[in-house]
Amino acid sequence: MRKLAVFASGFGSNFSAIQEAIENKTLKAKIQILISDQPKCLAIERAINYGIDFFAFSAKDYPSKSVYEEIILNKLKTLDIDLIILAGYMRIIGKTLLRGFQGKILNIHPSLLPEFKGKDAIGQAIEANVQTIGVTVHYVNEKLDSGQILAQEKLKISQISSRLEIEEKIHNIEHNLYTKTIKKVMEDLYEKSTY
Ligand code: GRF
Repeated sequence: MRKLAVFASGFGSNFSAIQEAIENKTLKAKIQILISDQPKCLAIERAINYGIDFFAFSAKDYPSKSVYEEIILNKLKTLDIDLIILAGYMRIIGKTLLRGFQGKILNIHPSLLPEFKGKDAIGQAIEANVQTIGVTVHYVNEKLDSGQILAQEKLKISQISSRLEIEEKIHNIEHNLYTKTIKKVMEDLYEKSTY
């Protein structure tokens, strides 16, 4: 059984999708801890409801990223975490966590990377008037939204779609694609028989 740490800053619907896939046995894993930089976010309420431990912090309470990442790293090592799953975590991962979990950090981003990196990818796509958008799951490296791509799924949008409709469709894609990709990564990293 592989151990996951999910990082989230907001709504937490991807966190829930992963937890539900675990509960219905689609994913043989356990979320050991939720890490959040937003102590009042909905993702934390979800963790409490699931009975999942969480660590919430405010970056402004620490002198630097490496100081709070060192604390997180120690927690994750103590818990024997196999994979870090970023699910709407709105901070760039620094050297401390990247070194501690090299090749073991995944992110999901609501665009067909390398298009529309960074914040509000859906807004950027609407602004650019593109007809096909999508979702990417990728490994995390030192550059924003730039690590090796693991999976992508496209979504055609019509000019009359509202932002809300687009977001809903993107989220649905994300929930399936993330779970499927985490499963595949666990198989590739830890072999079918042992995870
Ligand atoms: C998702 O759109 C994800 O792609 C992006 O942040 C959003 C998080 O949504 N990285 P939620 O908090 O999981 O609902």
